[in-house]
Amino acid sequence: MKTKNVIDLTDLSHEELMDVINLANEIKARPQDYGDACKGKILATLFYEPSTRTQMSFQTAMLRLGGTIIGFDNPQNSSVAKGESLKDTVTVIGGYADIIAMRHPCEGTAAAAAMYSPVPIINGGDGGHLHPTQTLTDVVTLYNEMGRLDNLCIGLCGDLKNGRTVHSLIKTMVTFKNNKFILISTPELSVPRYIKDTINASGCNYEEVTSLTEAMPELDVLYMTRIQRERFASEEEYKKQNGVFVLDKQKLKTAKKSMRILHPLPRVDEIDIEVDYDERAKYFIQTVYGMYGRMALMLSMLENSKKEVAPRVMPTHPLNRCSNPRCITQTEKYLPAIFKEAGGDMLICKYCDGRTLI
Ligand code: CP
Repeated sequence: MKTKNVIDLTDLSHEELMDVINLANEIKARPQDYGDACKGKILATLFYEPSTRTQMSFQTAMLRLGGTIIGFDNPQNSSVAKGESLKDTVTVIGGYADIIAMRHPCEGTAAAAAMYSPVPIINGGDGGHLHPTQTLTDVVTLYNEMGRLDNLCIGLCGDLKNGRTVHSLIKTMVTFKNNKFILISTPELSVPRYIKDTINASGCNYEEVTSLTEAMPELDVLYMTRIQRERFASEEEYKKQNGVFVLDKQKLKTAKKSMRILHPLPRVDEIDIEVDYDERAKYFIQTVYGMYGRMALMLSMLENSKKEVAPRVMPTHPLNRCSNPRCITQTEKYLPAIFKEAGGDMLICKYCDGRTLI
């Protein structure tokens, strides 16, 4: 694989993505053939934020490939607690490990880490921004359970503002032909502007609606998400949003028999547990597909990777800083400001995709 770092799944070309999906299925079919595929390789998992699936499926994936693992899941038990910077942490860990999977509460962290790491970085979730290996999990699931990744009507429901899995999934699914998105949320939790711009630029269509019941009959896929309590400014704000969308057996009565229900998990209370016994519910098998997807991704990334000792020199923007308060550049002050050209008086932060007026 040519791609060095995976900050979002769209970093992979279409061909690379299909190769990874096919390899995931091959490993699933014949795991014994891959038991030594990463022998001698070390994965570091740096999790600055809680995780069950992402961290443990990365670890299981590397162990099943014959490699070993190091890392932390509580930065307070590492020298981060003493004030060590992200740059220094990944520089040092990159000297120990062959590949790093990381999660951080600030948006744009994985992109920042990739600037200084001598080994490949995989984004395991950066704040409310992106979560590419959850998307890999989702597309391996859809490919196996639906038989295709195009011509799908995909309903995404819940916290579409803060749900990083939603953002990454849309960015990948717009690259397949003729997918349509029904965005089901309250107005307060609708998808960020840049995601709507991405859909528009792709030629795919989307609708924003506030009723799950009304959207249901049209859907080929229903992607439920939890309300991201940890991203709200106050408990009061969270409570106003929680419980608005709950999937239960009654609501499923008008759904297609062929519809598939996905959820990145963890579930809180947005899917009634009685739905777990409906044949359309695929969110637990989805976690297993995710492990095979991560095995295939790491194996592909490690095939041609070499350690790059010297950090690359990055351009800086002399006048502006990103205005997103959740951007990694707000806390790791040494990071150079880097913007993508957006035209007019708008700058788009290269780390977090946040928009800043000049
Ligand atoms: N889907 C997902 O990211 O789950 P975890 O937070 O448990 O890793």
